[in-house]
Amino acid sequence: MPDVLLPSELSPSRNYFLLTSLLVPRPIAWVSTRSQEGVVNVAPFSFYGGISGNPPIFGLGIARRADGRRKDTAQNAIDLSEFVVHLAEEPLLSEMVGCSAELEPDQSEAEALGLELVDSHVISVPSLAATRVRLECRLHQHQEVGYGPVDFLMGEVVAFVLADGLLDERGRVEEESLEPLSRLGGAWYAPVRERFKS
Ligand SMILES: Cc1cc2nc3c(=O)[nH]c(=O)nc-3n(C[C@H](O)[C@H](O)[C@H](O)COP(=O)(O)O)c2cc1C
Repeated sequence: MPDVLLPSELSPSRNYFLLTSLLVPRPIAWVSTRSQEGVVNVAPFSFYGGISGNPPIFGLGIARRADGRRKDTAQNAIDLSEFVVHLAEEPLLSEMVGCSAELEPDQSEAEALGLELVDSHVISVPSLAATRVRLECRLHQHQEVGYGPVDFLMGEVVAFVLADGLLDERGRVEEESLEPLSRLGGAWYAPVRERFKS
């Protein structure tokens, strides 16, 4: 007999852990934003998925802090309508996880962790210098979802920024040179090391 669990009969945290253990693997959006006061915030999010190819739009689900306040990423993206999503690659695992520390809005994870920033190409929010793939985005839409509520942000990519050597001569991404990290349940992660074509 299968175990059948009804979300309506479970606690919020049990529902969260079931969903995040079963909705796997999830890509990780490593997001930089800037506050109205000029503080650069960086944080990872795995409630992250593609929505539309034309124009390129994806969604990010950002929960509230335990005290009900908006997380800095959501607040900044709503205030300034700009953010950068970086591909979290395997060699940067500890930096990415370090950015999940819940610092106050006037504190910068980039500064706290010594992460170098560079100017972006199309938007004014800076990018993380160490990353090789960046999606410079404008906020397409914001919606509150669920009881938390979660801030659901839709980002429209206005520039794909790729390091030298990631595109082949036909302009396609060299799949095998990317080292994306994915999030599983709890504190589990998985790299992408094997690929096949079907
Ligand atoms: C790999 C990873 C994925 C995460 N995914 C999410 C997520 O999808 N939604 C969320 O609200 N928090 C997520 N978190 C937690 C946030 O990164 C954390 O709350 C962070 O402090 C938010 O920062 P901010 O307040 O500066 O925006 C994740 C953490 C890690 C390490």
